[in-house]
Amino acid sequence: MSLEHLIANNRRWAATAVQADPLFFKRLVEQQSPKYLWIGCSDSRVPANQIIGLPPGEVFVHRNIANLVVHTDLNCLSVLQYAVEVLRVQHVIICGHYGCGGVIAAHRGAPLGLIDNWLRHIQDAAQRHRHVLAREPNPAGQLDRLCELNVLQQAHNVCRTTIVQDAWRRSEPLTIHGWIYRLSDGLLQDLGFSASSPSQVEDEFAGAIAKSTRRDASSI
Ligand code: CO
Repeated sequence: MSLEHLIANNRRWAATAVQADPLFFKRLVEQQSPKYLWIGCSDSRVPANQIIGLPPGEVFVHRNIANLVVHTDLNCLSVLQYAVEVLRVQHVIICGHYGCGGVIAAHRGAPLGLIDNWLRHIQDAAQRHRHVLAREPNPAGQLDRLCELNVLQQAHNVCRTTIVQDAWRRSEPLTIHGWIYRLSDGLLQDLGFSASSPSQVEDEFAGAIAKSTRRDASSI
């Protein structure tokens, strides 16, 4: 089956971009200098550039199922290293979303195959923060909390990488943020984790976890 409609879309998009800014592609060819690295979920409903209103060239992006940062994942670590050491981004945004299929699957624990090994990391986060989840009276609330806790755990993981630790040792300006996106209204929420130095990591982490436990489920 042909994908001509996608190529046609592309032609229209490129023509519109040049109409609005004749030098748009010329500038992009010369260099990219994004200030942000986005680590988000592969979910088709959470496209990084669009939801933060940034054009091509402004955000470096890594996406995987459930926005995980695993300490042995060379793919994610390579993106992080290139973004921090070569592109010199100043912000790393870990962005999860409510209703994340990966988090739901991890929470249910029903076997799905190979991916269970990937989702295991979310189950580890759930186990680590089980006291937070236990305070949620209903399953929907637990899932929302787990989506938040997963973001915070991954943001914490980013901070613990040698890449971020080394950048901070060199006194480079680099802040790690934890955000969550709501599919139902398209709005982002800062989860209250923002670390710019090793000494901030644990306090920010504990503070954001505590904030998560106080968040009213009806506000989600
Ligand atoms: Co997801």
